[in-house]
Order: sequence, then C-alpha cells, then structure tokens
Amino acid sequence: MNVAVCPGSFDPVTAGHVDVIRRASKIFDHVVIAVGSNLRKEPRLSAAERARLVEKVTAGIENVSVEVMEGLLVEFARERGACVIVKGLRAVSDFESEFEQAQLNRTLYPELETVFIMSAAEHSFLSSSAVREIASFGGSLRGLVPDEILEVVQEVYCRKGDRA
Ligand code: PNS
Repeated sequence: MNVAVCPGSFDPVTAGHVDVIRRASKIFDHVVIAVGSNLRKEPRLSAAERARLVEKVTAGIENVSVEVMEGLLVEFARERGACVIVKGLRAVSDFESEFEQAQLNRTLYPELETVFIMSAAEHSFLSSSAVREIASFGGSLRGLVPDEILEVVQEVYCRKGDRA
C-alpha cells in the first residue's frame, strides 16, 4: 500500500490545499494529512482546531485521514509506513523553501521521497497568509476557503489583534 503524508500548518486550510489533497488521493492508496506547526509562524488556532477544519473539508474523500503532527515530519512518516511526502507547489517563490525542506528531510530519511503537485492556475495566488490578511480586514473569503468552513474561518481570523 502506497501511503503518502501531506504536511502543512493549514492556518487555515484553503481551497488550494483541498485541491492538492484531492489530487494526491487519486495517486496514492492513502493520504495522511499531517497538521503541524511551523516554528517560524504563530498560528491563531491550535493544531487540533486546525486539524478539525481540515477533517471537515476532506470528509468526503475516502482515502484521506487527518492527524496532528507533533515531532519531526520524517518520524511521523516512518511511523505510518509512508514512502512519500506530498506537497503543493505554487510558484518559483515556493521553491527555495520547499527545496530546502525536501533536502533536509531526505538527509534525515533517505528512503522517503518528496513529490510536488503543481497548484491549479486558479489557486496559484492563494495562500493561508493571504486568507488571514483578507479576513483580518473583514474581506470576503468566498472561493478562497471551502464553503463548509467559510463562516468559522471568517469569524476566527477577523478577531481583533490579528493585524499586529
Ligand atoms: O504549511 P507550512 O508552514 O509550509 O508547513 C511546514 C511544516 C509543518 C510542513 C514543516 O514546518 C514541518 O515539516 N514541520 C515538522 C518539523 C520538521 O520535521 N522539521 C524539519 C523539516 S525541514
């Protein structure tokens, strides 16, 4: 069985993430979404809360499961018998950081491959940070995050103090 891990901070999960997850689910037997925390970012929601939102928007995809990831990605993948890390790639600007992470993960666990799924053109501009910024100024997130979580994301990320 080909298991892939799709990691991210998902702060919050966007329509672009869901598209990549859906496409990965067609390639691999099982996809485990690993909701982690990027030490360089301070998420507004806890990993468990972010994971609940990811669960909600992927509930209809049979071979996808969602877990909180606490330690190293390579250990998470090893424990789940995954052979692949799958990530979305939007633009050249993503490449440097993704290349660095892929090389580091490969150094730590050479048998684990990182593969990239190119984002759909309509999502190539979309990021969690753009979603947070638009929400913090009260802008509409329609089309940017899945409809099922539109209201809650709009509410959570527009709270005062987000703009600092
Ligand atoms: O959505 P993001 O912020 O690009 O996700 C980054 C994430 C969570 C995938 C990355 O920070 C990660 O893999 N964290 C787990 C800790 C780890 O393994 N770090 C070494 C990889 S360079």
